[in-house]
Amino acid sequence: MDVYECLNTRLTIREFKPDRVPIDVTTKILQAGRGAPSSRNRQPWHFVVITDSDMLKEIGAIAESGPFIAGAPMAIAVFMRDAERLDLDAGRAIQQMEIMAWSLGLGTCFVGFSDPKAELQVKQMLGVPMDFDLITVLPFGYRLDSVRGRNRKRKPMSAIAHMGRFGYPYLAR
Ligand SMILES: Cc1cc2nc3c(=O)[nH]c(=O)nc-3n(C[C@H](O)[C@H](O)[C@H](O)COP(=O)(O)O)c2cc1C
Repeated sequence: MDVYECLNTRLTIREFKPDRVPIDVTTKILQAGRGAPSSRNRQPWHFVVITDSDMLKEIGAIAESGPFIAGAPMAIAVFMRDAERLDLDAGRAIQQMEIMAWSLGLGTCFVGFSDPKAELQVKQMLGVPMDFDLITVLPFGYRLDSVRGRNRKRKPMSAIAHMGRFGYPYLAR
């Protein structure tokens, strides 16, 4: 799958095949995150790989907006410390992992933890020092065949892209 196709077919996935994610696939996903650019190249991220099904169920029970983590064969929790541009740095690493996973037949969903109590629980469960920020837990798994028919909802190009001057819609050809 080339980059254009990958970027333009990727969808958020919340349901997974039960198949185990091979370790070399997990490594490729991590390499993609590790290779992301970051402000002043500080690489302020840490990635915790979770494959224990009881732990995945427990995190799914904690994650208000991501109960489907419980049904994933693998997840990667993303933590940041000492980041100058926390959201940007984290977002770029996460996006790279998402795109790599999609190109390999897997899918994922960004799951946010806005409740500080839930963040604390995840950090304690994974033995992560308290001065780290939990950005997300990304559940990963092979996507179901039914995903193929699903469409993305996006604003039209002319509503968001401007040609030369704001308000002059870019008309895609
Ligand atoms: C910063 C961010 C936070 C998100 N948080 C959640 C979440 O907590 N739970 C969830 O199910 N989806 C979450 N999503 C997924 C979005 O709902 C999804 O990307 C959006 O609906 C577009 O769908 P698509 O990725 O399939 O194109 C999040 C996405 C982003 C970028």
